[in-house]
Amino acid sequence: MGSFYKKVIRPVLFKGNPESVHNLSAAMLGTLGMIRPLCALSECFNLIRTERPIRLFGVDFPNHVGLAAGMDKNATFWRALGALGFGHVEVGTITFHGQPGNPKPRVFRYPEQEAIINRMGFNNDGAEKVAARIRRQKGSKQWKTPLGINIGKSKITPLEGAAQDYIGSFNLLAEYADFITLNISSPNTPGLRDLQKKEHLYDLLSAIMENNKHWAKRKERNPVPILLKVAPDLSFPELDNALEVLLSLDYAGIVATNTTISRPSPFSSDSETGGLSGAPVDELSTRMINYISRRTEGRFPIIGVGGIMDEASAGRKMDAGASLVQLYTGFVYGGPFFPKNIAFSLKRHSDKWLY
Ligand code: FNR
Repeated sequence: MGSFYKKVIRPVLFKGNPESVHNLSAAMLGTLGMIRPLCALSECFNLIRTERPIRLFGVDFPNHVGLAAGMDKNATFWRALGALGFGHVEVGTITFHGQPGNPKPRVFRYPEQEAIINRMGFNNDGAEKVAARIRRQKGSKQWKTPLGINIGKSKITPLEGAAQDYIGSFNLLAEYADFITLNISSPNTPGLRDLQKKEHLYDLLSAIMENNKHWAKRKERNPVPILLKVAPDLSFPELDNALEVLLSLDYAGIVATNTTISRPSPFSSDSETGGLSGAPVDELSTRMINYISRRTEGRFPIIGVGGIMDEASAGRKMDAGASLVQLYTGFVYGGPFFPKNIAFSLKRHSDKWLY
């Protein structure tokens, strides 16, 4: 099935403009997501389950493979993604203020390199609208696929107001999330990645965690697990600093990594601006996962993302110390059965990775 997608369907899809094809696929998946019996049936065929659920920060994941943030920015089709076999879905990035993102074109495919460059710039409907949408979709029955919600800073908010901006989104969205991911690593919002620096990070993360604890008290429930998503371009000393802050503040884990602003060969510095994803980011992100795992003696949950294009690259992320993996570009290049195939492969080897 995978080769039918690659030989027949993908060449047709790739003739279209990347964002238009994305919007068309999103609309189709959104429709599928509304037909619950079809979703349930599809889930029966596609959802690979490990022997027992993978329990991480209090959440049970049916398999190792999740959808990375950025594909379902407005939470319009995440339910259908569960039906394609993803063991969790991360929606977003969502910002407190709705915003249009950067001018188009802003997504570029590089099939020879199995890569994408994007400079979307957090186009999304804003936290209030998306929260209302998820509330309606979840309905009275809790949807089974664990849902991560990724939040970022609104473009109009200055860096000094970042904590309040994240907290505003958190307070609107947290009750629908199995976990929250803080995105401070997108290259497409000016200044955002500065939040990863020592002088900002502790203040930002402590304010958000304090708010989480107050929120939990008000709601009479446990605080929501919060993870931090980092760039693959951080130096190891910068990463050490981030880990120290995360561990000292009881953060639940780390998502490693976002797209890179570097341009590994054959990309050159005059290629499109934006974040590079897919095969060229694989090694960078695996190196980072390996480093984090060694520094934390394998005790800090890592969601490994970046350049998973086949079973081997997914296995390498797990070998490096990831507890779960996520994919985006590999799904675009590999097609609808790709998540299921990766989940199946990781399940076969899962006795190697304790969970
Ligand atoms: C992304 N990614 C992303 N990440 C994030 O945290 N918030 C976002 O809004 C987006 N948006 C986005 C758009 C597009 C078009 C792409 C290709 C990627 C990054 C994504 O989640 C992932 O971290 C990287 O793409 C690396 O993984 P892959 O794509 O190599 O599997």
